[in-house]
Amino acid sequence: MARQRWIATAAAVVAIGTGASYVIRALPPDPTPVADFSAPFVFGRFSVPQDNPLTEEAFALGRRLFYDPALSGGNDRSCATCHIQRLAFTDGLPTAAGLNGESLEFSSMSLVNLLWGQERFFWDGRALSLEQQALLPIENPQEMAQDLEELVRELKGSRQYRRMFRQAYGEVSSENIARALATFMRMLISAGSKYDRFLRGEAVLTEQEELGRKLFMAHPDTKVSLRGGNCIDCHSQFLTSGFRDGLDGFSNNGLDKDVDLPAGLMAVTGNPAHKGFFKVPTLRNIAVTAPYMHDGRLQTLEDVMDHYNGGVVVSPTLSPLILEADNAASPPGSFVGLRLTDSEKAAIIAFLHTLTDEAFLSDARFSNPLEGEL
Ligand code: HEC
Ligand code: HEC
Repeated sequence: MARQRWIATAAAVVAIGTGASYVIRALPPDPTPVADFSAPFVFGRFSVPQDNPLTEEAFALGRRLFYDPALSGGNDRSCATCHIQRLAFTDGLPTAAGLNGESLEFSSMSLVNLLWGQERFFWDGRALSLEQQALLPIENPQEMAQDLEELVRELKGSRQYRRMFRQAYGEVSSENIARALATFMRMLISAGSKYDRFLRGEAVLTEQEELGRKLFMAHPDTKVSLRGGNCIDCHSQFLTSGFRDGLDGFSNNGLDKDVDLPAGLMAVTGNPAHKGFFKVPTLRNIAVTAPYMHDGRLQTLEDVMDHYNGGVVVSPTLSPLILEADNAASPPGSFVGLRLTDSEKAAIIAFLHTLTDEAFLSDARFSNPLEGEL
């Protein structure tokens, strides 16, 4: 019964995503397009679904829903329980905490610049749009354990929500809950880090940060004595997340040997070549999102650098981009990683710190709108 309902809902949401068979039932009065919307051109092209334009009303509604514990079955947790603004919308835990205190399989993900995100969401890429993604944690019995029909009934009982839905979309429905949450998440734009200001010519990097930047961007080549950290090969430049096209934003970065590799993207595509592939996460605000990796196994950025430098585990699906990146030209069979010096590792870490966007982490527009009300 519950499962059937889930499938019906998922189908409806997919229909929104493609815009194909969705009929707008009640035209909203007159939502206001987000006025001062600007996005750094260096971030590249982005698209907003035609049937879910960025409007002030949808943003305000999505923001409220994001922070409202009413979205969970027990009225005791919201999206923000696991996505905390000052932690770049992660939760500081190795893996997220389930409703009964159990540790879930995956680490909470940073929510930033999703407008340019890959075409797939979650560590294993199983959601194909933010609209599709948004209802999954609500219904997940270990996360928010809420029945969608029950939630719609609850929200319809609130005058304020009825008004906010009417202004943004028309009616209170699970589709419109998903669309509002997706709008809020699309507006979580970070473009104010020291690195952004450097790109705009407004800030100067220290010598160490500059060395780190160069290493981050370079694929090592011992033949021409080019030293590199190779990070850019996957954590692509301005967004420092994976590439957006198809499955290019997923890879195996050498955390486990073959027998221990979790399915990752293979769980979604069924393709054994995708075993152990995970979404290349953004490195924006990475200094505030410890612990690291899909299961939070690494505590610090130093641990992360030690992994790429000397702890890479070779397996059949290890990314060739990592396997080819060795600053010491190790003989075949002895590859362990980048083999950078301690000061080069420290320089990359210093560069990673320039990706912290304080303005984003404390932007009042993204904070809890219910705080004043409660
Ligand atoms: C119990 C903690 C928890 C709650 C509550 C929660 N999330 Fe998450 N969120 C996670 C975890 C863990 C992941 C990674 C899950 C995975 O990969 O399977 C994640 C991933 C995501 C992603 C994917 C980001 C990306 O880059 O692919 C989005 C978007 C997201 N959550 C939004 C939300 C929204 C919206 C809500 C509220 C409706 C919410 N989350 C509630 C823990 C939570
Ligand atoms: C072959 C592609 C690839 C390369 C090259 C690469 N990474 Fe990654 N990186 C990934 C993937 C995939 C993950 C997620 C892996 C997982 O959790 O299973 C990741 C995760 C991370 C994380 C943890 C992020 C988080 O939110 O937990 C950090 C930090 C990181 N990489 C930094 C770097 C740095 C610094 C470099 C260069 C020295 C680098 N990466 C090179 C693919 C790559």
